[in-house]
Amino acid sequence: MSKPRFITFEGIDGSGKSTQSRRFAAYLESKGADIVLTREPGGSPGAEEIRQLVLTGDPDRWSPETEILLFTAARRDHLEKTIEPALAAGKTVISDRFADSTRVYQGATRGDLRGMVDTLHRLMIGREPDLTFIIDMDPATALERGLARKSGEDRFEDFGLGFQETLRHGFLALAHAYPQRCILIDGNRTPDQIASEIAAYA
Ligand code: ADP
Ligand code: TYD
Repeated sequence: MSKPRFITFEGIDGSGKSTQSRRFAAYLESKGADIVLTREPGGSPGAEEIRQLVLTGDPDRWSPETEILLFTAARRDHLEKTIEPALAAGKTVISDRFADSTRVYQGATRGDLRGMVDTLHRLMIGREPDLTFIIDMDPATALERGLARKSGEDRFEDFGLGFQETLRHGFLALAHAYPQRCILIDGNRTPDQIASEIAAYA
């Protein structure tokens, strides 16, 4: 099998995705790979502007339906401007979140909107990662870690613990639905332990 070139990290807020995506990128670079490390929402100038709209302000600032449109618009720009050009140039792309986040955060938390998410994904994005690490962990611990950062981008953390528990189940269901590309990682360990398990997939 050829090496995976489009790799994503997914999981609830504060689960360690940013830490592990940075570490995996550094590890692959140390082996000589050409890496583009990116994130969602964001990853291109236009998508970073949309990021500010969706991550700040009141939890009920946007309905889940409006969020689907905003996150998909951001993703389309990220894909056109950052991901596809990098893959076309032969680079490996590592993204901290991608479409699985919309499937879970917008598709399965405030009503069943998964059909809408999937339809828009098919029309506007039409690409899946080669490999996805889903970091699974206790939502209470993850929420403490996330809120301790005080990033000012806490709109989704502000929905509370019950919301994070629903998200966790959504990500576990995704890991089962897409076993060919999803690897479930136990995030209740030290960063070093987690990074060495992930490095084995390089
Ligand atoms: P995410 O991107 O999933 O929100 P981060 O990687 O930003 O998560 O981690 C959230 C916070 O928890 C950060 O302050 C980070 O340093 C810390 N952290 C990350 N991984 C671990 C871990 N395995 N154990 C303890 N703390 C961690
Ligand atoms: P991120 O910066 O990764 O937050 P965290 O470090 O707390 O995990 O992502 C920002 C937030 O955006 C996060 O709460 C999840 C949410 N989100 C969605 O609701 N839908 C999406 O499609 C994406 C990409 C993110």
